[in-house]
Amino acid sequence: MLNPDLQRLKPYPFEQLAALLSGIQPPAGVTPIPLSIGEPQHAPPQFVLDALTEHRGLIAKYPTTKGTETLRTAIASWLDQRFSLTRSPIDPETQVIPVNGTREAIFAAVQAAADRTVGGLLVMPNPFYQIYEGAAFMAGLTPHYLPIDASGQPDYRAVSDRVWADCQFCFICTPGNPSGTVIDEETLEYLIKKANAFDFWLASDECYSEIYRNTPPPGLLEVCAQMGHRDYSQCLVFHSLSKRSNLPGLRSGFVAGDASFIAPFLKYRTYHGCSMSMAVQKASELAWSDEDHVMVNRGLYAEKFQAAADILGDQLDSHDPGAGFYLWAKTPTGCDTFSRDLYAATGVTVLPGQFLGREVDGVNPGAGFVRMALVAEPNTCREALQRIQRFMTR
Ligand SMILES: Cc1ncc(COP(=O)(O)O)c(C=O)c1O
Repeated sequence: MLNPDLQRLKPYPFEQLAALLSGIQPPAGVTPIPLSIGEPQHAPPQFVLDALTEHRGLIAKYPTTKGTETLRTAIASWLDQRFSLTRSPIDPETQVIPVNGTREAIFAAVQAAADRTVGGLLVMPNPFYQIYEGAAFMAGLTPHYLPIDASGQPDYRAVSDRVWADCQFCFICTPGNPSGTVIDEETLEYLIKKANAFDFWLASDECYSEIYRNTPPPGLLEVCAQMGHRDYSQCLVFHSLSKRSNLPGLRSGFVAGDASFIAPFLKYRTYHGCSMSMAVQKASELAWSDEDHVMVNRGLYAEKFQAAADILGDQLDSHDPGAGFYLWAKTPTGCDTFSRDLYAATGVTVLPGQFLGREVDGVNPGAGFVRMALVAEPNTCREALQRIQRFMTR
């Protein structure tokens, strides 16, 4: 016997992409360039690698699930400074928990929070990061997909109170994956009020928050603090070192917010057995305490978005969303056809938007778009963009 909910998990977008491109060979002699996977390719900070080496002896010890006080303090200080929380500072003791990358925490948080005896909705954007949906299926909740509009985010004000009344958990993603669009402060305030009025968990996936061109995106806790919600009631944020610090393999992030969630989540995690290795904790502490490497990283992305604007011009209907590292571009043909033809002609892989979305009432809001991750080193990205430009001119 197996848990029947496992059958509901959908194939990951990259499996669908592999099937789409199977049997297609890029032109001979052309080096393939993947823009499909959002895995940062910039070098990780050397001081983090050094810390891992220095503290490797701690592998001999069991780490606690709660994490060290010094790591939680470093995270809380980072949050306080980055999101101006000085009037209601994050308590490292009760409002933060380190996690092994946000993916596992996003999944686990829903398992810990959902009340299976009543069921209900997990509200999420569409297209979306697929873990939200899998978390809903495995927790006995029903995904409720909100289509993103031309802005790149859902129109949250169009969601009816009936939906909010049935909602147990709502994921927002800002800056968004795939669109890169940031949710503005007024909308965050609107959502916080709904979460408090209808008693659901509002979880903001902010793992791209440090990749921005000019203006730092606002965060959910920041808006809570501005509203005078000192206990961050009903609100959670997920942050990661994967994109901010080019450390996707470190598997390090955190969840912070409402202490009445963090305490039972810690209990859940103790059973689940997902404590962070001590060497990783030491390295993470240093990474959260340094902004210089993050500024350099942002500079590299800014350079690549500028290159995209210069090279593609208006040949592909895309624009810099101002944050994140994806170009979300409208395709002149079907997004699957476009992706296949582009790969066959140029060796550049992009991800069809339809694989990131779900069809609701006959419409998949991801269809007709491709997601291009500008994660490679600037020269490689430039080369990929030039190939796309030549492909578009043909
Ligand atoms: C929107 C979004 N959330 C969360 C994650 C998970 O990141 P990590 O587990 O590396 O922290 C990703 C990774 O690609 C993502 O795109």
